[in-house]
Amino acid sequence: MATRTQGRTSNRSNSSSDNSRSSNRSSSGSSDNRSAFSWGENAGPLLGAALAGAAIGFAANYGRKALMQGMEAMTGQWDEILAAEHDMALAIFDKMLATDQSQTFKRKMLLMKLTHALDKHAHQEEMVVYPALREANEAGDADDLESEHGYIKTFIYELNKIGPDAPNWLEKVREFRALVHEHAHMEEEQVFPRFKQGMSEEQNSEITSLVNRDGFWMA
Ligand SMILES: [Fe+2]
Ligand SMILES: [Fe+2]
Repeated sequence: MATRTQGRTSNRSNSSSDNSRSSNRSSSGSSDNRSAFSWGENAGPLLGAALAGAAIGFAANYGRKALMQGMEAMTGQWDEILAAEHDMALAIFDKMLATDQSQTFKRKMLLMKLTHALDKHAHQEEMVVYPALREANEAGDADDLESEHGYIKTFIYELNKIGPDAPNWLEKVREFRALVHEHAHMEEEQVFPRFKQGMSEEQNSEITSLVNRDGFWMA
């Protein structure tokens, strides 16, 4: 089992937000039929330029994603990809721990980088690996690990809240790193190898391609 979230209780309230913002716009009944979406006579070239800009932006982003994911896909099977991402996150933590209180900009940048890396990583696990674990009757481990992801996000929330010049910033980062390290260790040493052992080669490559595909959109 993967339970190591000592003393942390979850007090989620179920108050779903009330989306009852009513829209009371009445139609003006104006005889002028031009809607807010009418384009002026000269809007054509402008619209074309905007669309072209969006297309270039999309292509650039797509290329970046393909490059990032391509590099990652070369690292091997799903468990190796995820283990490499663990190492990457731990390396960012080490850079954070090497900063001092005056390096607020560097701390902010590193926290952003860490947030993105952990977010992408958690998404791959939560959308592919943990559901596959549940499918293989390993729901207990999947649920424990997914709940720890919640506490990982809580650390990010707390670090953002206290700010990079807080006197306890390093202490919090150290605590955060320990949780991620323990979580990663549990996945790499226990849960993933056990899961992989019971898999056919076909299932294994299916999980690898699903992890790659999910990572592509999150890159
Ligand atoms: Fe995880
Ligand atoms: Fe992980």
